[in-house]
Amino acid sequence: MVTKIGKEEIIKECAELIKKGEIVAFPTETVYGLGANALDENAVKKIFVAKNRPSDNPFIVHVNTIEDAEKVAFVTEDAKKIFEKFSPGPITVVLKKKPIVPDCVTAGLDTVGIRMPSHRLAQEFLRECGVPIAAPSANVSKKVSPTEAQFVYDDLNGKIPAIIDGGRCDVGIESTVISLAGDRPIILRPGAITKEMLEEHITGVSNFSGKVDVAPAPGMKYVHYSPIVPCVLYRTTNGAMTEYDLRQAEGKNPIILAESEDCKIFNSKGYNCVDLGKDSNQFMHEIFAKLRICEKKYDYIIVQALGNEGVEYGIMNRLLKSSGGVIV
Ligand code: TXA
Ligand code: MG
Repeated sequence: MVTKIGKEEIIKECAELIKKGEIVAFPTETVYGLGANALDENAVKKIFVAKNRPSDNPFIVHVNTIEDAEKVAFVTEDAKKIFEKFSPGPITVVLKKKPIVPDCVTAGLDTVGIRMPSHRLAQEFLRECGVPIAAPSANVSKKVSPTEAQFVYDDLNGKIPAIIDGGRCDVGIESTVISLAGDRPIILRPGAITKEMLEEHITGVSNFSGKVDVAPAPGMKYVHYSPIVPCVLYRTTNGAMTEYDLRQAEGKNPIILAESEDCKIFNSKGYNCVDLGKDSNQFMHEIFAKLRICEKKYDYIIVQALGNEGVEYGIMNRLLKSSGGVIV
């Protein structure tokens, strides 16, 4: 299969592919998604094949409006508040599903994750498709989520008919996933919409903690977000340089990924470092892209560990998975 890449001029053609039961990669403000008609079981199954993804991990369903969300889920009052405040945007709300949603979308759960993306091309694509779109991130399973069309191409070339290129994703990590389907709101996956932001609108929000049998959110059961080369985190610049020296002595070609302030220190001392920007929002925007680029050029990645407040909590959630929790 030849994989076509184009910008907004291929949206209509891609929507036709979706209506025919095909799958298409499209940009969102978080990461690229690999979409299928959420109401077409056979189409959704093609996503598992292309991604090599286990089928007990549920997909998010993407729509443009609350009215469209109500066709697939029971939208509670709290959910309406969250959608009205943060959608379109980087948040997914898990709600009780309606019977119209096939089991293969929700991994047999009685709930469905609903998201309204804010990327202009995502919205246009959803409008043209006219059906809810089930979409995981458009990477091969276990790899870092793609934040550029080229990264989707690197993973899925030849496996899907088309990729809509909407440029680099603004946010850079996957949406916050909050479940409003149980007794209390639980954040299943932290992201750019933080616990603090959600707490301004609904009460009793907590972060998920506990053991997972079925995977209620990505990375809880399966390894996710991993670069193809070893990756560790550092807390102090000295720690990073010691690790770098050690790996270099082993004959490796390491790279450090850090915020600008630390990067200046490393560069002044002759250590190779990629600058992730001057604050945590820039860090979030850059991290997946830089992991993807560096895993091709280097064979050992050392990333700056962040704190636990605000968006840093979500970024650290991904970094701990990338590194298997190893901090030097
Ligand atoms: O930003 C994003 O969320 C991107 C873009 C494409 O929208 N999508 C994304 O999808 O990251 P994915 O499949 O890589 O991660 C979505 C995760 C699922 O793995 C799942 O665990 C959780 O959201 N999820 C979806 N439906 C759920 C449900 N019914 N109950 C609990 N968790 C759910
Ligand atoms: Mg994913």
